[in-house]
Amino acid sequence: MKIIGTGSALPEQIVTNEDLTKFLDTSDEWIVSHTGIRERRVLDRESVNDIGTLAARRALEDAGLALEELDLLICSNVASDYFTPGPACFIAGALGFSGQTLDINGACTGFLQALDIADAYLRAGKARNVLIVAAEKPSYLADWTDRATCVLFGDGAGAVVLQNSEPSGCIATCIATQPNEDFLNMPTPAGNCPFTHREGAGGYLRMNGQEVYRFAVSSCVRDLRAVCEKADVSLEAVDWFLLHQANQRILNAAQTRLKQPKEKFPGNIERLGNTSSACIPLLLDEMRRDGRLREGQLVALSAFGAGLTHGAALLRI
Ligand code: ACO
Repeated sequence: MKIIGTGSALPEQIVTNEDLTKFLDTSDEWIVSHTGIRERRVLDRESVNDIGTLAARRALEDAGLALEELDLLICSNVASDYFTPGPACFIAGALGFSGQTLDINGACTGFLQALDIADAYLRAGKARNVLIVAAEKPSYLADWTDRATCVLFGDGAGAVVLQNSEPSGCIATCIATQPNEDFLNMPTPAGNCPFTHREGAGGYLRMNGQEVYRFAVSSCVRDLRAVCEKADVSLEAVDWFLLHQANQRILNAAQTRLKQPKEKFPGNIERLGNTSSACIPLLLDEMRRDGRLREGQLVALSAFGAGLTHGAALLRI
């Protein structure tokens, strides 16, 4: 597996911390000091399928890949515009792709799960080229009257095109689930079936911030160490650590525990907030385009999310 193209797309609307103070009891100072976030993008008239399609087009263009050469389109998404069909079908339709599509909902770990699946398809010879699109609108899940959650999120889409290569650039993955729905969840609406009664249905994203914080730091450090051990690579040999962008303090704590220089932990949280599974492909695209990401480099990815899902991957670019 080799990354041969990347792309991204963001909603036009920028929402600053100052904008949030107009309807929430919060401040720029609190949000920056507790999360590192200064602004985020929020979908207004565009849909999550629109930004997913745009990111996909840009990644295909960057890869110089014709649609006929694409074998599989995987979309990672938590909330889209429809329960069904999933966004992969909409994006395929907009691109004019009629091959296999696959939708996965692995919360913020979804991009890593998609990468692992894509690598398996490529290694097995079931595909030669795979497009992964992570298109997310956590702004839809958040309760915008709850200052403890809504300030954290932003919308966006990132995409990568993967091609089979020998040996695979996906050196090791380490992806798992620590089942616990209490710390982070959002129930579906009740529906109107007269024979079904559900307590606590519907509503918004519910999060126990401190428990998620603890889980995030420990799982991220553990997974990154595990994936390096699996590949027999030292942490020092890794050029970049691309971590799920949930909170700058989580990133700082992981960096301190791993005893690696701050410069190896690039971020986009300050400008974009937590864009769920799109965080990592958005970072990959930005770094590939500005030249930071170069052939031969070792990149460690790590994410965690509702489930609780978590994992890491070690890539040779
Ligand atoms: N503005 C002002 N005050 C606030 C805000 C806000 N936006 N949010 C919370 N507060 C207040 C609280 O009400 C509380 O006030 P009190 O002491 O009077 O009760 C005080 O600030 C401290 O609240 P804490 O919850 O203890 O704040 P903490 O330092 O833990 O930060 C945060 C909260 C940012 C949510 C942190 O716990 C965190 O980042 N957790 C992890 C979140 C995360 O990663 N979520 C994952 C999302 S989904 C995903 O990515 C998979």
